[in-house]
Amino acid sequence: MTENREYAMGRSEEETSRLIEQSQLYDRVTRRFLQEAGLSVGMKVLDIGTGAGDVALTAAEIVGPSGSVIGVDMNPDILSTARERATALGYTHTEFVAGEASEVELDTDFDLIVGRLVLLYVPKPVDLLRRLVTHLKPGGTVAFQEPALSFYRAMTSDDTPLLNNMVEWGLGVFEQTGANISMGFDLFGVFTEAGLPAPKLDYHAPMGGPEDWPGYEFLAASFRSILPLIEKFGLATAEEVDVDTLANRLWKEVNETKRPLMLPPHITAFAKIDG
Ligand SMILES: C[S@@+](CC[C@H](N)C(=O)[O-])C[C@H]1O[C@@H](n2cnc3c(N)ncnc32)[C@H](O)[C@@H]1O
Repeated sequence: MTENREYAMGRSEEETSRLIEQSQLYDRVTRRFLQEAGLSVGMKVLDIGTGAGDVALTAAEIVGPSGSVIGVDMNPDILSTARERATALGYTHTEFVAGEASEVELDTDFDLIVGRLVLLYVPKPVDLLRRLVTHLKPGGTVAFQEPALSFYRAMTSDDTPLLNNMVEWGLGVFEQTGANISMGFDLFGVFTEAGLPAPKLDYHAPMGGPEDWPGYEFLAASFRSILPLIEKFGLATAEEVDVDTLANRLWKEVNETKRPLMLPPHITAFAKIDG
């Protein structure tokens, strides 16, 4: 992330909990993605922008104690949560390192380098991928899971005024902070421009209807994280967002329209370099 960019999601403890909630909604996709990318027992993995460690912990479970996982994040505070979670799981094959992905010192023998929801914040993702490739073993794999937030505009409709507002507030924050809301769609170009083979791609979005589903609370938590920037950029007032009642208002809207709610879609891409 560049000097002048503001990290849209903030760095609060609530944001750390939101990342863990998010993982519960997207973990099925990530686990399958890691397995399709060839992750298996004994491998050595690097997780870029690890946050509270969710992808790293899933990878650590798959590689087992004969493998190892290093998670890197520029926010040193969130790494204490990642370390505590690894300890609680009894993992001794995980390590979490504070640093900027484009600068931190890294080993050069990773089997898999992965990142989830991180390239959208990186101003020069091609340069970062070019660097990361040099830290892979021959035959190693690069794998990223990034959002396709621009697709969310297609979710708006005349009978969903609250969702329509949320889409504009949310995307407005990401756009104004310089995050790439279409990073998922850009993965193909970023991989190939970085000299990687054309990646294998997939697209996923969790969905829920008005049944008991954690998606409403997750979106409300996301808006709690970005509320300071919604206000700062003049997109809406705290009263308009009313974050404490947001999940319930959204649920009511979904219940009335009888159409399910889609969470931000993610695109996955992985490519194996020549071995
Ligand atoms: C949305 S969170 C995703 C966390 C985790 N990958 C997950 O999916 O749960 C993005 C994380 O990337 C980190 N990050 C963003 N840009 C980074 C960079 N250039 N170098 C290292 N970490 C970065 C942020 O500090 C944040 O913890």
